[in-house]
Amino acid sequence: MTPTRYSSVQKFLHWTIALLIFGLVPVAITMTNIGEGELQNRLFELHKSTGLTVLALALARILVRAARGAPALVAGLPAWQRKAARASHYALYGLIVLVPVLGWAGTSACCAPVKWFGLFSLTLPISGGMPVGEAILKVHMAVASLLVLLVFIHIGAALHHHVIRRDATLRRMLPGRSEV
Ligand code: HEM
Ligand code: HEM
Repeated sequence: MTPTRYSSVQKFLHWTIALLIFGLVPVAITMTNIGEGELQNRLFELHKSTGLTVLALALARILVRAARGAPALVAGLPAWQRKAARASHYALYGLIVLVPVLGWAGTSACCAPVKWFGLFSLTLPISGGMPVGEAILKVHMAVASLLVLLVFIHIGAALHHHVIRRDATLRRMLPGRSEV
């Protein structure tokens, strides 16, 4: 049966993943521009560990979504907006898995070991060294840019619902509000 609201776990995962992504993109841009040194190494490790955390949370989120479903879109939307909402939500789910997997694969190939906050090694067995790693990381950066673009459009859509249409779309994703 289609639920009438997002569960608190779904809301928690939505906002935690969003916050982590808002943190790790500026870290990524800084680490690739700051020049070699101790700070750059630390930012790389922070970016990689936070990215792996996003991957784990994204997989958990997709399992919850598959098991529980999501509330129907608000009523009265034109067909193209319904299609765009569904397509962009699927694309966001896909990208929050694909982007960290590419980062993980690229780093495993070029710059092992990959460690999660220095605690344990999570290096993937990918051979080919630097050329393969760099090629995968180029795709990682391109697909991450697509994710960022889509997130901006997604935020625009959420604000459009809230400010222009004045419907319940944003409110029902906010913590602590159980009714649509
Ligand atoms: C949702 C998760 C992630 C997002 C949104 C993301 C985003 C980005 C972005 C935007 C860049 C490009 C920065 C620039 O060119 O200025 C980047 C670079 C990079 N990312 Fe990620 N990343 C994620 C996860 C990961 C993971 C899990 C790893 C590795 C375990 C990783 C490793 C790297 C590396 C090594 C670079 C630098 C590539 C280079 O210097 O050529 N990323 N990431
Ligand atoms: C990296 C950041 C974000 C990602 C990856 C993301 C991803 C998603 C995904 C995949 C859904 C679909 C949920 C489902 O149907 O199961 C969703 C829903 C939603 N998101 Fe985001 N989101 C992000 C940031 C934001 C931000 C910053 C806002 C608000 C300004 C926002 C507002 C919403 C709202 C209101 C919904 C519910 C849509 C509905 O019920 O029809 N999101 N988000």
